[in-house]
Amino acid sequence: MKGIFITFEGPDGSGKTTQIRLLREHCLAEGYDVVMTREPGGTPISEAIRALLLDPAHKEMDGVTEALLYAAARAQHVAEKIRPALEKGCVVLCDRFMDSSIAYQGYARGLGDDVRVINEFAVQGTQPDITFLMDLPAAAGKARVAAARDLDRLEQEDLTFHNAVYEGYMQLKEIYRSRFVTVDASRSIEEIAEEIRRRFDDYVAGRSFSQ
Ligand code: ADP
Ligand code: TYD
Repeated sequence: MKGIFITFEGPDGSGKTTQIRLLREHCLAEGYDVVMTREPGGTPISEAIRALLLDPAHKEMDGVTEALLYAAARAQHVAEKIRPALEKGCVVLCDRFMDSSIAYQGYARGLGDDVRVINEFAVQGTQPDITFLMDLPAAAGKARVAAARDLDRLEQEDLTFHNAVYEGYMQLKEIYRSRFVTVDASRSIEEIAEEIRRRFDDYVAGRSFSQ
């Protein structure tokens, strides 16, 4: 792949959307072609699945159904948007990716390693080069979100669920050490953005050095 695939992960309200926009500005200023996208969503089919998943009315949704719908939305997103953009050499910035499924459905819903397996199938080998993990305790993220917007179906889960998501991320960053960059997300927006820009620049410098 010619492009660079960067994902943002972390609890709800940890600042992913804020930071992905700032990194996009930096990448554009550096002259990269940038595709910024999100999960679940990013294509018409995947956005339709997003609406199903996040509708607070769908309280009866089974956990396995939920995991398969996230994976289906992702399969379409990778095939239609992410992989073609990487083949063209773009920097792809994605707000959440398969680590979210492993943390939320695998760890917090308790569905285990099957979630990783269905997602390996969904992404067909397309994996992030860098994953920025916004490290913020679940309660702090929840408080930020509650102040800012209406809560979707997943955000309405209780703190026990969100603490399990956080623990899931703590395990993921140990398993995938080579691509995870853990960022202290309790600092100011500008301090965090500065660190993310620096880590991006370092990655690009290292990559062109090794080519
Ligand atoms: P996420 O995409 O992870 O849910 P957002 O970027 O939407 O997070 O941020 C959630 C809320 O917290 C927004 O109201 C945003 O303005 C605010 N926020 C983002 N980053 C910070 C920060 N570093 N410090 C304080 N508030 C923040
Ligand atoms: P998102 O809109 O990114 O929420 P937020 O901005 O609050 O972080 O994602 C919607 C919800 O979907 C969020 O609560 C996390 C959840 N989610 C999963 O449970 N599994 C997944 O694979 C993904 C991508 C998201």
